[in-house]
Amino acid sequence: MRKYIIAGNWKMNKTVSESIALAKGIVDAVKGIKKTEVVIAPTYLAAAKVADVVKGTNVKLAIQDIHWQDQGAYTGKVSVDMVKEIGAEYIIIGHSEQRQYFHETEETVNLKVKKTLAANIKPIICIGETLPQREANELKTVLSTQITGAFKDVSSADAEKCVLAYEPVWAIGTGKVATDEQAEEAHAYIRSVIKDLYGAKIADEMRIQYGGSMKPGNAAGLLSQNDIDGGLIGGAALKADSFFAIIDAAEKR
Ligand code: 13P
Repeated sequence: MRKYIIAGNWKMNKTVSESIALAKGIVDAVKGIKKTEVVIAPTYLAAAKVADVVKGTNVKLAIQDIHWQDQGAYTGKVSVDMVKEIGAEYIIIGHSEQRQYFHETEETVNLKVKKTLAANIKPIICIGETLPQREANELKTVLSTQITGAFKDVSSADAEKCVLAYEPVWAIGTGKVATDEQAEEAHAYIRSVIKDLYGAKIADEMRIQYGGSMKPGNAAGLLSQNDIDGGLIGGAALKADSFFAIIDAAEKR
């Protein structure tokens, strides 16, 4: 049985004090949550403070991105050792906003995935098609290219530690959610690509989150699909009550 993983990607939202307050609200709300893994990804600036808030609770810390180099002259970037020191357990890699605005490529995704795994942190690898790609019937080609690229030279033992997040770009922040069927079709295909790469056992165990306008009102339907194992939530993760409602929908499955 795959354990649901509900992660809040706060993106470039919340000051440090707002982040601490939100993290505290989430920690309080999820005290009774037993079966669902809960993860939050604040900004770099707030991460160390939020790490103190979640320490010893059932909320885990994720970071939104890293650089693949160990240290040095990379203005604006953060290394995996820095993230590890504050206790991050997950790193989001290859988010479509990174791909779209910050020159993320299949190659840099792969470098970051390998760096993260080498530090014993789990990558949440984001993949997904744009609307023109979907309309041109390129869904499967786009997904398989992104998956193969991300997992290049990643061993089976390491692949097991990864989480995938299917985020159709056209559904992110638009309020336009994929239907349960559209999402399930993509997730089932993603699992089949993992099966081709790593075999049935790893494919069966790998968790694949859905991301893109997931909200309390649509979470239960999406999470009821066979191959949907959680959510990567943007907007609805910025308030403790709506984030909790999604976690609760996972917990009640
Ligand atoms: P929204 O939930 O705001 O659509 O964002 C999804 C997302 O990009 C999470 O990484």
